[in-house]
Amino acid sequence: MSGNPIFELRGVQQRYGDRTALEIPSLVVPEGCILGVAGHNGSGKSTLMRLLAFLERPFQGEVLFRDRAVTDSGVRQRREVTLLTQEPYLLLRSVAANVGYGLKVRGNLDADQGRTRVREALAMVGLEPDVFEHRSWRELSGGEAQRVALAARLVLRPQVLLMDEPTSSLDPENAERLLGAAVLARREWGATLVVVSHDAAWLESVSDGVLRIVQGRIASAPDFCRSRE
Ligand SMILES: Nc1ncnc2c1ncn2[C@@H]1O[C@H](COP(=O)(O)OP(=O)(O)O)[C@@H](O)[C@H]1O
Ligand SMILES: [Mg+2]
Repeated sequence: MSGNPIFELRGVQQRYGDRTALEIPSLVVPEGCILGVAGHNGSGKSTLMRLLAFLERPFQGEVLFRDRAVTDSGVRQRREVTLLTQEPYLLLRSVAANVGYGLKVRGNLDADQGRTRVREALAMVGLEPDVFEHRSWRELSGGEAQRVALAARLVLRPQVLLMDEPTSSLDPENAERLLGAAVLARREWGATLVVVSHDAAWLESVSDGVLRIVQGRIASAPDFCRSRE
């Protein structure tokens, strides 16, 4: 892993009330890596993901994205980073409307280009476009819904895909498809992946290296996560 840092954490501490949920003196996430994050329940994994997704600001320290501190107006960064959680959030509409929603909001493609991109994204997550495009959100299994939620993100070609226990309620086939799509995003446009799971062995097999968090602190980290300074 020799990519430039896409994220860098410096002296980060996150607190809720008087509890310190996470304390990370230094951490680098190189561009294009697949970083696994493992730890028991309550160890701070989701807190780390929310910080990387800019959904929270740290109580102390800073989170840099491509060497720049994320400001309140970090709209550009927010567009490049997307977080998928265990609970897929879908609009009560067709699969195509769900997957195409973000493209429509950004409004820089015509209808044909948009539809092509939606179909490509469905194919990436292993959902046959002809079969699923016109389905209602009601006709999806939990695993399919999770894959549609991922397609809705991949269609925007995010630079960073954060996945917080994305497969914990999925059967092995859906889990494999979901991860396979994320790996394709790295191959096709160099996306960086950060994948959280409490299953360290599984993470070891799918990632370039695993960050282990114990009670809010880094217990071990891959070499490529060390700062070069
Ligand atoms: N919004 C919050 N308010 C208060 N405490 C929180 C909040 N989010 C997380 N915590 C606490 O921070 C710690 C880490 O939580 P979390 O990051 O969700 O862990 P994990 O994802 O590894 O299970 C836990 O003790 C949790 O109770
Ligand atoms: Mg969590």
